[in-house]
Amino acid sequence: MKLSVIGCGYLGAVHAAAMASIGHEVVGIDVDQRKIDSLSRGEAPFFEPGLQEILTETIASGRLRFTTDPAAAKGSKVHFIGVGTPQQKDGHAADLTYVNTAVNSLIPHLAEGDIVAGKSTVPVGTAAGLAERIVPTGATLVWNPEFLREGYAVQDTIDPDRLVAGVPAGPEGERATETLREVYHPSVAKGTPFIVTDYATAELVKVSANAFLATKISFINAMAEIAEVTGADVTQLADAIGHDARIGRRFLGAGIGFGGGCLPKDIRAFSARAEELGRGESVAFLREIDEINLRRRDRAVQLVVDGLGGSVYERNVTVLGAAFKPHSDDIRDSPALDVAVRLHGLGAKVTVTDPAAIENARRVHPQLAYVEDRDEALRDADAVILVTEWDEYRRQLPPEHASTLTTGRVIVDGRNGLDPAAWRAAGWTYYGMGRP
Ligand code: UDX
Repeated sequence: MKLSVIGCGYLGAVHAAAMASIGHEVVGIDVDQRKIDSLSRGEAPFFEPGLQEILTETIASGRLRFTTDPAAAKGSKVHFIGVGTPQQKDGHAADLTYVNTAVNSLIPHLAEGDIVAGKSTVPVGTAAGLAERIVPTGATLVWNPEFLREGYAVQDTIDPDRLVAGVPAGPEGERATETLREVYHPSVAKGTPFIVTDYATAELVKVSANAFLATKISFINAMAEIAEVTGADVTQLADAIGHDARIGRRFLGAGIGFGGGCLPKDIRAFSARAEELGRGESVAFLREIDEINLRRRDRAVQLVVDGLGGSVYERNVTVLGAAFKPHSDDIRDSPALDVAVRLHGLGAKVTVTDPAAIENARRVHPQLAYVEDRDEALRDADAVILVTEWDEYRRQLPPEHASTLTTGRVIVDGRNGLDPAAWRAAGWTYYGMGRP
């Protein structure tokens, strides 16, 4: 099928390449010339495992191309909208500028029977408004949210755990559903749940899924706060409650909390939208979720201060990680980088290292020192803090080896990813998050 994908960021670029890899003929469209040039050369403009391989393969096959020309969407049967919906600069609501611009640029090129499939995360009610503008062209709008995780985006797009389609009522909606089933044919053939809803439900499925995940993380981080004043161990607690299948162990990782381009801004936008709808109290708990999350960054900073005897001023602190999570170069709302910036603000001589995110981090926080090589970054550190649990820091850094590089022996484990016994046995003072 001929498809267009408007927006070639973390979501759109992966979607375009993944759709080409399952056999479709795809054009990716973006206003950012640099991004388009890079993608056209077959180079992934950001770090995402597996993306490079499918880009190379599908561009060579001729099924995938990229352009800045919105007219290239003409002739495609389905047009995916995969642009960003960041947090507004002066508030908590979502900024829909890019969605509106994408739809405006698409409308002149739509033909009778085309389908516009919204994938961006939007406040509930957005699709109904967009449909009013799209219907006069003879095209149909569907809302088809994306649940991909960065780091696993290719796999999540090609083989999602569910598909959701918010469609209009009647034959038009049925026809659009059939077309989407054809688009996602390998998943449909495999029996992946395909849930057909109205627009509002589809929009809400996405934000409520992210709100739930954020709540789960802040729940365990709240337990970490209690563990800290009682001497309990939150990781054992998580293991124990996680064995209850109704609870489950995943997303019970206590640490410096969630960040990234989705969870933080999505829960804030959800609260803002609920307020507009007169139901602010229904999700008032999300404000608490946000606050618990941000408090964990303070805690991590405090542990470094404590570890260094009450002040980090002029002390060498090595920060292991900058990305908001491993297997990503994304630093949007990264708790890791925030901790580094705060330590720098307290006068510490901060050295940041990360296997993928240094370039992005340096652009936003040029005041920090960055060192690519992990061991080089550890040299002469008075204290070390692990904030992004890359394997390079979690599994492949024996404490005995770290001891040969650093001056001090203070390790703060911001992700509870290390073995406290091993670090202590090697002579280190170990601080975890919610662990004695
Ligand atoms: C998230 C959703 O998982 C995904 O379904 C949605 O489409 C987009 O938002 P992503 O932002 O890529 O995906 O990252 P995710 O793996 O969910 O992690 C989010 C943050 O939570 C990271 O900062 C991670 O370090 C943190 N996290 C995750 C924890 O602090 N503890 C955990 O147990 C799990």
